Formats: sequence, structure tokens, C-alpha cells
Amino acid sequence: MKKRIGVIGVTGFVGRYLAAALAGRGDEVVGFSRSGAGEVPGVLEWRRSGDWDLSGLDGIINLAGERVDQRWTASNRKKFEQSRVGVAGDIVAALGAMDFPARPKVWVNASAVGFYGDRGDEVLDEGSPRGEGYLAQLCVDWEAATSGVAALGVRCVMVRIGMVLGRGGMAWDRLRMVFKLGAGARLGSGKQWMPWIHVEDLVAGILFSLDNQTILGPVNGVSPAPETNRDFTKKLALALRRPAPWVAPAFVLRAIFGEFGDFLLGGQRVMPRVWQEAGFVFRYPTLEQALEELCRK
Ligand SMILES: NC(=O)c1ccc[n+]([C@@H]2O[C@H](COP(=O)([O-])OP(=O)(O)OC[C@H]3O[C@@H](n4cnc5c(N)ncnc54)[C@H](OP(=O)(O)O)[C@@H]3O)[C@@H](O)[C@H]2O)c1
Repeated sequence: MKKRIGVIGVTGFVGRYLAAALAGRGDEVVGFSRSGAGEVPGVLEWRRSGDWDLSGLDGIINLAGERVDQRWTASNRKKFEQSRVGVAGDIVAALGAMDFPARPKVWVNASAVGFYGDRGDEVLDEGSPRGEGYLAQLCVDWEAATSGVAALGVRCVMVRIGMVLGRGGMAWDRLRMVFKLGAGARLGSGKQWMPWIHVEDLVAGILFSLDNQTILGPVNGVSPAPETNRDFTKKLALALRRPAPWVAPAFVLRAIFGEFGDFLLGGQRVMPRVWQEAGFVFRYPTLEQALEELCRK
């Protein structure tokens, strides 16, 4: 049956793929943006982020989030927090102000694998405890901000997203450019685990979570085959047919990225247990399969 789904952050990288997928299967997409309107294929109606008019929607998907790959200054930290914890809290308040019959019944909210902090070789799933550090705390607060909806009869799923690989996304576009130039490099020791996911699988997993009544709470939005940075670098160089003999030392990464450099030097070996146990099938389960698609002309 056709549904009406509100997508917050629809103008972003994942949001655009998601709007196309929802429209492609016959759902109606209501796009939310701070600028009020935009050009995103698949969006039928626009509403303004901040006004939080959630009327007439069967479900909500919230992908809002200021990018964290910039300097973690005090003013940027405020933006990271307001766009995640603040927006999630606003959604709970808007849902709480609606009568039950009119309320959307499901809400899929973005979160991130940063929840787990830097965990060495430990295999992590949704039952693993939180990690340490600023990003872990940000994700904990982000997820906690959604908790008020349980009492409102809204099923809420938090997707802890890993590095998303897809054309138009910052990670893939930057990696491809740097490796194509022959400047691809291992980051620090290269032993850190990199949870990644192809954007098509992430979108399919979000839709699976939206539709599947049994899914509730945190799910890991990552492929079932995380790679160490060393292997990721080798496989990417091979796929792009370029050498990548370099090593980006830790101090250089810290000098360029500040505290985000520490995040790049740490890692999480995260598995998508909830999706897999619920029967979700990945189209690109291995990095080789994802790279084969991404490198296709
Ligand atoms: N891409 C990844 O590798 C990755 C990895 C882990 C987690 N995630 C999370 O997944 C989500 C989607 O990622 P993405 O790569 O698609 O992000 P993106 O391209 O940066 O898009 C995020 C969207 O959030 C909206 N936004 C930003 N600040 C907002 C605010 N204060 N209030 C309301 N909306 C705001 C923006 O929409 P408007 O400007 O139109 O309002 C923007 O289009 C984000 O929450 C991100 O943190 C992404």
C-alpha cells in the first residue's frame, strides 16, 4: 500500500538516494529542508525543517546532521549537537503534540558507528556497550533524544551508519580522487577496522527497517564484511589500478583534521546482526563487490 513518508535531510547525499528509492516503489515523499524547498527527484511536497509539521505522514526518516569531518571547534560542536540531539528532541515534541490517530507510526533515525568509539579487534554488534570519546557521547545523546517516542506508540529504529560509499558522497568522491592521483595512503598503522556500506544497501536497509514491524531500537547500518584500513587501501588501489604505497602518519592526520583525525586512526569492527537475523540481504556484502559497482563507468 502506498505510504506518505517524511524525509528530514532529504537534500543530503543519502537523502537523495532515499527519496528516489521511496518514489520508485510508489511511496509519496514529503521532503524537509531548512531552505524549505529544493530540487530533489522523487520529492512530492516540501516542508521546512524547524517548523516540524508532521501531519499526514505514515512514517518519518531523519537524516539531518551537520558533517563531523570538519574542525571540532566550540561553534561546530554546537552545530553537530543541535542538528542531531536538538532535531531528534524537536521530532519527539512534535509527535507528542499530535493526537495518536494522526501520529506517524514509525520513525527511522540516523545514528553512527561512532557510538562504539575506538575498539581494536573486538567484534561489535547492536548489543555491545557504547564507547568513549566525543563522537560516542554525541551518538549516545542522539539516540537518547529519541527515547520519548516509545510512550507515544511510535516504533523507532536508530541506524548506526558506517562510512557510506556511493557516487556523490564525500567519502567515495574524495577517496576516488586521491587514489586516482596515485596519492592513496594507509592511515597510521592501518590496523583499525573500517565499517563501510554501499549507499544502495544503506537505503534498502532503511526501507527494510521502515517496513519490518519486528525491528526496533539500534541497528548497525554496515556491510557484513568490515575491512582493516590496510586491506581497504590495498583493495581500493587494486580496483582503481593505481599504486598506493604511502602511509599518512598519525601526526599529519591530526594536523589536517584535528580531533577528527583521531577518529580516522581508530576503528570499530561492527557487524549488522539485527538486519541479518531479520533476513535482510545485502546486494554488496563485500568490498570487492561494492568497488566493482562503484568503479564501473
Ligand atoms: N555519509 C556517511 O558516511 C555517514 C556515516 C555515518 C553517519 N551518517 C549520518 O547519516 C545522516 C545522513 O548523512 P549524509 O551523508 O546524507 O549527510 P549530508 O549529505 O551532510 O546531509 C545531511 C542533511 O542534514 C540536513 N541538516 C543539517 N543540519 C540540519 C539542522 N540543523 N536541522 C535540520 N536539518 C539539518 C541538511 O539538509 P538541509 O540543508 O536541506 O536542511 C543536509 O542535507 C547524517 O545524520 C550523518 O551524520 C552519515
